[in-house]
Amino acid sequence: MTINIERGDITTYAVDAIVNAANNSLLGGGGVDGAIHRAAGPALLAECKTLGGLPTGQAVLTGGYRLPATYVIHVVGPVWQGGQNGEAEMLYACYANALRIAGEKQLKTVAFPSVSTGVYHYPLEKAAAIALRALAVEGAKYPSLEHLIMVCFDAQTEAAYQAAKQALAAGA
Ligand code: APR
Repeated sequence: MTINIERGDITTYAVDAIVNAANNSLLGGGGVDGAIHRAAGPALLAECKTLGGLPTGQAVLTGGYRLPATYVIHVVGPVWQGGQNGEAEMLYACYANALRIAGEKQLKTVAFPSVSTGVYHYPLEKAAAIALRALAVEGAKYPSLEHLIMVCFDAQTEAAYQAAKQALAAGA
């Protein structure tokens, strides 16, 4: 299984599934959530409306519709509140639950955004370390998973995830 850090727009990725950093309502929003809904078209929102929301840390699969990706796996990351409210565990759970769903579906390639580091203000370096550890530890549990890609929208995010990947490889 490979884990790559790339710079780009996750809505353009023709992979088995892209992960969406959604909110508890699953009814769309700004950031990557807004971009994914715009690219997928109204059928994505229609399916999301049937799901009745999603608790923080959890994940759910929907179709990808007009996206080049086959599926969207929606997760709800924690809002940063200083780090004493279980944010780290919730963020790890987002990646772990998304990977579990991908593994159960026998998917091969999954692309992830930097969950919670935008509107939800999770400190970037802390989030990157948690994300990379989750991808490595949880992804290894599912034999079908061949390629995991962290899709970073800006240079600062890409640098943080590259550094986190190197730290993980160095056994930090
Ligand atoms: N492709 C990849 N990454 C993107 C894209 C894109 N097209 N657009 C934004 N991003 C990046 C942001 O730059 C940030 O690094 O996704 C990361 C997560 O930021 P947000 O989208 O703000 O997500 P988050 O911090 O988890 O906040 C979720 O924001 O959009 C609302 O409905 C969403 O309420 C929820 C909240």
